[in-house]
Amino acid sequence: MSKPALLGGKPVFSKTHRWPRWPQSGSGDRKRVLDVLDGDEWGMGSRATAEFARRFAGYLGAKYVLPVNTGTAALELIVKALGIGPGDEVIVPSYTFVASATCVLEVGAGVIFADIDPRTFNIDPEDVARRITPRTRAIIAVHFGGNPADLIGLRGVIGKRNIALIEDAAHAHGMLYHGHGAGRFSAAAAFSFQSSKNMTCGEGGAIATRDKKLFELAGSFHSFGRKPGKAWYQHYYLAWNDRISAMQSALLLGQLDRIEPQTRTRFSNGAFLNRELAKIRGLSPQADGDSHPDTRRAYHVYMLRYDGRETGLDRAAFLEALQAEGVGCSPGYPAPLQEAHLFTGRRFWHAHRLGGGPRLSHEPDYRKMKTPVAKTYCDEAVWLPHPYLLASRKEMQGVVDAVARVVENAGTLRKRRS
Ligand SMILES: Cc1ncc(COP(=O)(O)O)c(C=O)c1O
Repeated sequence: MSKPALLGGKPVFSKTHRWPRWPQSGSGDRKRVLDVLDGDEWGMGSRATAEFARRFAGYLGAKYVLPVNTGTAALELIVKALGIGPGDEVIVPSYTFVASATCVLEVGAGVIFADIDPRTFNIDPEDVARRITPRTRAIIAVHFGGNPADLIGLRGVIGKRNIALIEDAAHAHGMLYHGHGAGRFSAAAAFSFQSSKNMTCGEGGAIATRDKKLFELAGSFHSFGRKPGKAWYQHYYLAWNDRISAMQSALLLGQLDRIEPQTRTRFSNGAFLNRELAKIRGLSPQADGDSHPDTRRAYHVYMLRYDGRETGLDRAAFLEALQAEGVGCSPGYPAPLQEAHLFTGRRFWHAHRLGGGPRLSHEPDYRKMKTPVAKTYCDEAVWLPHPYLLASRKEMQGVVDAVARVVENAGTLRKRRS
């Protein structure tokens, strides 16, 4: 094995190597944005937004799509439209972005963190089953990294109970679950179009649902509690402004043109990395969340588990050596979400005093919620950025070679650090 870059070898990828950039735009984007600029529909109710909603619904196979201004707003609007509030509990995976949980705190409900499956890194239905109480009103399944969460398993756990299933599809544009886009097997799905996402307009989001009532309520809640066809200054609900602009929608139309070919490339490169990296000691790529022939992973962040006991090199040293080979990689989240100061210090608006005040009678004690699998994964995760998955097969082979080189030289790299 050749010498690792950290020990003076030639890096697999030079400092000037050009990885696919992100975000990407295409030839039609400039015209669409200029059309909006030259027109008089910049804000709500634009033709660009209506067209995007219609086309995105068609792409997902969803009955209704409501474009909004962030993925966070999409989640909050779903939780509000389901009527969840103080005294209720919502089960959320402890390995996720903070917005999957703050949408629950926003309405004064309690977040119950569930552990993840050690192979798929998605919410574990068996652990969810243990955490259901009479207060449970919903479960938020995050398709982490675009890998489908076990929706059928979660529906089995829910059974006949009145518990809604919500999909956090912030990473799942282009994902197919049993042949359908997100939003089909749940009450609703929330997408994000923030700048790092596989479809983006800088900032944006959308709700996809089959539920007319949920769609109409969320529609009212995202625009000051108005009702279609009613007077402009009539407000029927407590609600904010979560609307998307025409300019953002114009950008999303171009993203929609590219999502399918890009998803196919990411999928094929992701499958290649899964196969090749699994052959290397100490590495376990995120396993498929579902084996149905019509299920397709979307691949947002590419994730794997790195076991430093097997390689003899700890994760920090592994990441440093891989970065020196020109492979951008990171450790991901530092700890399960319930360990964030937000939860341990109870810095909630509904507690009315930042970091203080007596616990509300129905408020969970976040310090007592243990999710050991998520904890271990936080210590072992390695993330690669999704634009890599748009690179060539030769570059993917380079990533595999770089990882293999680091692991083969683990002993020498360890000595260098001690
Ligand atoms: C899993 C997950 N859910 C929700 C969000 C929130 O989306 P946004 O940033 O568009 O508000 C993000 C990321 O930003 C995310 O990664």
